[in-house]
Amino acid sequence: MTIRRLTAADLPAAAEIEKSCFSVPWTEGMLAGEVAEGLCLGAFEDEKLVGYCSMRSVLDEGYINNVAVLPAYRRRGIARALLTELEKSAEGLAFLTLEVRESNSAAQALYVSLGYLPVGRRPRYYERPVEDALLMTKYFTGR
Ligand SMILES: CC(C)(COP(=O)(O)OP(=O)(O)OC[C@H]1O[C@@H](n2cnc3c(N)ncnc32)[C@H](O)[C@@H]1OP(=O)(O)O)[C@@H](O)C(=O)NCCC(=O)NCCS
Repeated sequence: MTIRRLTAADLPAAAEIEKSCFSVPWTEGMLAGEVAEGLCLGAFEDEKLVGYCSMRSVLDEGYINNVAVLPAYRRRGIARALLTELEKSAEGLAFLTLEVRESNSAAQALYVSLGYLPVGRRPRYYERPVEDALLMTKYFTGR
Protein backbone atom coordinates (compact mmCIF):
# COMPACT_ATOMS: atom_id res chain seq x y z
CA MET A 1 0.00 0.00 0.00
CA THR A 2 1.16 3.52 -0.74
CA ILE A 3 -0.30 6.74 0.62
CA ARG A 4 -0.19 10.03 -1.22
CA ARG A 5 -2.20 13.24 -1.56
CA LEU A 6 -5.19 13.02 -3.87
CA THR A 7 -5.34 15.22 -6.97
CA ALA A 8 -8.22 16.19 -9.26
CA ALA A 9 -7.45 13.07 -11.34
CA ASP A 10 -8.43 10.88 -8.36
CA LEU A 11 -11.89 12.42 -7.91
CA PRO A 12 -13.91 9.81 -9.91
CA ALA A 13 -12.34 6.95 -7.92
CA ALA A 14 -12.92 8.78 -4.63
CA ALA A 15 -16.58 9.35 -5.57
CA GLU A 16 -16.93 5.61 -6.24
CA ILE A 17 -15.59 4.88 -2.75
CA GLU A 18 -18.14 7.32 -1.31
CA LYS A 19 -20.97 5.49 -3.12
CA SER A 20 -19.85 2.13 -1.80
CA CYS A 21 -19.53 3.40 1.79
CA PHE A 22 -22.28 5.93 2.57
CA SER A 23 -26.07 6.28 2.19
CA VAL A 24 -25.56 9.99 1.41
CA PRO A 25 -22.31 9.96 -0.58
CA TRP A 26 -20.29 13.06 -1.33
CA THR A 27 -20.27 13.96 -5.00
CA GLU A 28 -17.19 14.58 -7.14
CA GLY A 29 -17.92 18.31 -6.82
CA MET A 30 -17.93 18.18 -3.02
CA LEU A 31 -14.76 16.10 -3.03
CA ALA A 32 -13.10 18.58 -5.40
CA GLY A 33 -13.44 21.23 -2.69
CA GLU A 34 -11.68 18.96 -0.21
CA VAL A 35 -8.85 18.23 -2.64
CA ALA A 36 -8.39 21.90 -3.51
CA GLU A 37 -8.80 23.49 -0.09
CA GLY A 38 -8.24 20.70 2.42
CA LEU A 39 -5.85 17.80 2.83
CA CYS A 40 -6.96 14.57 1.13
CA LEU A 41 -4.84 11.46 1.47
CA GLY A 42 -5.46 8.30 -0.56
CA ALA A 43 -4.34 4.72 -0.01
CA PHE A 44 -3.41 2.87 -3.20
CA GLU A 45 -3.04 -0.86 -3.88
CA ASP A 46 -1.41 -1.51 -7.27
CA GLU A 47 -2.32 2.04 -8.40
CA LYS A 48 -5.99 1.52 -7.39
CA LEU A 49 -7.48 3.97 -4.91
CA VAL A 50 -8.92 1.78 -2.13
CA GLY A 51 -9.43 4.29 0.68
CA TYR A 52 -9.09 7.93 1.52
CA CYS A 53 -9.46 10.50 4.28
CA SER A 54 -9.74 14.26 4.29
CA MET A 55 -9.21 17.06 6.74
CA ARG A 56 -9.62 20.78 6.89
CA SER A 57 -7.96 23.04 9.41
CA VAL A 58 -9.02 26.39 10.81
CA LEU A 59 -6.28 28.09 12.82
CA ASP A 60 -5.09 25.29 15.15
CA GLU A 61 -8.25 23.15 14.85
CA GLY A 62 -8.41 20.12 12.56
CA TYR A 63 -11.71 18.75 11.23
CA ILE A 64 -11.76 15.28 9.66
CA ASN A 65 -14.58 15.18 7.12
CA ASN A 66 -14.24 11.77 5.49
CA VAL A 67 -12.66 8.40 6.19
CA ALA A 68 -13.65 5.53 3.91
CA VAL A 69 -12.20 2.26 2.70
CA LEU A 70 -13.65 0.03 -0.04
CA PRO A 71 -15.48 -2.94 1.57
CA ALA A 72 -13.15 -5.52 0.01
CA TYR A 73 -10.08 -3.84 1.53
CA ARG A 74 -11.23 -3.41 5.12
CA ARG A 75 -9.56 -4.79 8.28
CA ARG A 76 -6.11 -4.55 6.72
CA GLY A 77 -5.02 -1.44 8.59
CA ILE A 78 -5.70 0.95 5.71
CA ALA A 79 -7.83 3.47 7.65
CA ARG A 80 -5.38 3.36 10.56
CA ALA A 81 -2.47 4.04 8.18
CA LEU A 82 -4.35 6.93 6.52
CA LEU A 83 -5.22 8.59 9.83
CA THR A 84 -1.71 8.08 11.18
CA GLU A 85 -0.32 9.80 8.09
CA LEU A 86 -2.89 12.58 8.41
CA GLU A 87 -1.75 13.19 11.98
CA LYS A 88 1.79 13.82 10.74
CA SER A 89 0.40 16.63 8.60
CA ALA A 90 -1.54 17.89 11.59
CA GLU A 91 1.63 19.01 13.34
CA GLY A 92 0.85 22.21 15.23
CA LEU A 93 -2.87 21.52 15.59
CA ALA A 94 -4.39 21.57 19.08
CA PHE A 95 -6.82 18.79 18.20
CA LEU A 96 -8.40 16.70 15.47
CA THR A 97 -12.14 16.19 15.65
CA LEU A 98 -14.84 14.34 13.71
CA GLU A 99 -18.46 13.18 13.74
CA VAL A 100 -19.48 9.54 13.56
CA ARG A 101 -22.86 7.80 13.49
CA GLU A 102 -23.89 6.53 16.90
CA SER A 103 -24.41 3.03 15.41
CA ASN A 104 -21.05 2.96 13.54
CA SER A 105 -19.18 0.78 15.99
CA ALA A 106 -16.46 -0.12 13.45
CA ALA A 107 -15.45 3.50 12.93
CA GLN A 108 -15.74 4.30 16.64
CA ALA A 109 -13.43 1.38 17.46
CA LEU A 110 -10.95 2.70 14.91
CA TYR A 111 -11.00 6.19 16.42
CA VAL A 112 -10.76 4.95 20.02
CA SER A 113 -7.77 2.79 19.05
CA LEU A 114 -6.08 5.95 17.76
CA GLY A 115 -6.77 7.99 20.89
CA TYR A 116 -9.97 9.85 19.99
CA LEU A 117 -12.37 10.45 22.89
CA PRO A 118 -16.15 10.91 22.75
CA VAL A 119 -16.72 14.54 23.70
CA GLY A 120 -20.29 15.29 22.61
CA ARG A 121 -23.32 14.47 20.55
CA ARG A 122 -25.14 16.20 17.70
CA PRO A 123 -28.80 15.11 17.82
CA ARG A 124 -30.30 13.96 14.48
CA TYR A 125 -27.17 15.06 12.62
CA TYR A 126 -27.41 12.39 9.91
CA GLU A 127 -30.06 11.52 7.32
CA ARG A 128 -30.96 8.18 5.70
CA PRO A 129 -31.46 7.05 8.39
CA VAL A 130 -31.82 9.95 10.79
CA GLU A 131 -29.35 9.37 13.60
CA ASP A 132 -27.33 11.23 16.22
CA ALA A 133 -23.64 11.89 15.64
CA LEU A 134 -21.04 11.30 18.30
CA LEU A 135 -18.35 13.95 18.34
CA MET A 136 -14.90 12.42 18.86
CA THR A 137 -11.72 14.41 19.41
CA LYS A 138 -8.02 13.72 19.78
CA TYR A 139 -6.15 16.41 21.67
CA PHE A 140 -2.49 17.19 21.03
CA THR A 141 -1.86 19.57 23.91
CA GLY A 142 1.68 19.27 25.13
CA ARG A 143 3.27 17.99 21.97
C1 LIG B 1 -14.48 2.56 9.41
C2 LIG B 1 -13.55 2.14 8.27
C3 LIG B 1 -13.01 3.42 7.62
C4 LIG B 1 -12.39 1.33 8.83
O1 LIG B 1 -11.48 1.08 7.78
P1 LIG B 1 -10.46 -0.19 7.83
O2 LIG B 1 -9.38 0.10 6.83
O3 LIG B 1 -11.20 -1.44 7.72
O4 LIG B 1 -9.88 -0.05 9.33
P2 LIG B 1 -8.50 -0.67 9.85
O5 LIG B 1 -8.27 -2.00 9.20
O6 LIG B 1 -7.43 0.35 9.75
O7 LIG B 1 -8.88 -0.91 11.39
C5 LIG B 1 -8.13 -0.36 12.44
C6 LIG B 1 -8.81 -0.72 13.76
O8 LIG B 1 -10.14 -0.15 13.80
C7 LIG B 1 -11.02 -1.07 14.47
N1 LIG B 1 -11.99 -1.60 13.51
C8 LIG B 1 -12.04 -1.38 12.17
N2 LIG B 1 -13.10 -2.00 11.61
C9 LIG B 1 -13.74 -2.64 12.63
C10 LIG B 1 -14.90 -3.46 12.71
N3 LIG B 1 -15.62 -3.75 11.60
N4 LIG B 1 -15.28 -3.92 13.90
C11 LIG B 1 -14.58 -3.64 15.02
N5 LIG B 1 -13.44 -2.90 15.02
C12 LIG B 1 -13.04 -2.38 13.84
C13 LIG B 1 -10.14 -2.18 14.99
O9 LIG B 1 -9.64 -1.78 16.26
C14 LIG B 1 -9.03 -2.19 13.96
O10 LIG B 1 -7.85 -2.79 14.41
P3 LIG B 1 -7.66 -4.39 14.25
O11 LIG B 1 -8.05 -4.75 12.83
O12 LIG B 1 -6.19 -4.57 14.54
O13 LIG B 1 -8.58 -5.00 15.25
C15 LIG B 1 -14.30 1.25 7.23
O14 LIG B 1 -15.00 0.24 7.90
C16 LIG B 1 -15.27 2.02 6.35
O15 LIG B 1 -14.90 2.58 5.32
N6 LIG B 1 -16.55 2.06 6.76
C17 LIG B 1 -17.59 2.74 5.99
C18 LIG B 1 -17.37 4.23 5.99
C19 LIG B 1 -17.35 4.79 7.40
O16 LIG B 1 -18.12 4.40 8.26
N7 LIG B 1 -16.45 5.77 7.62
C20 LIG B 1 -16.33 6.45 8.88
C21 LIG B 1 -17.28 7.59 8.91
S1 LIG B 1 -17.18 8.52 10.44
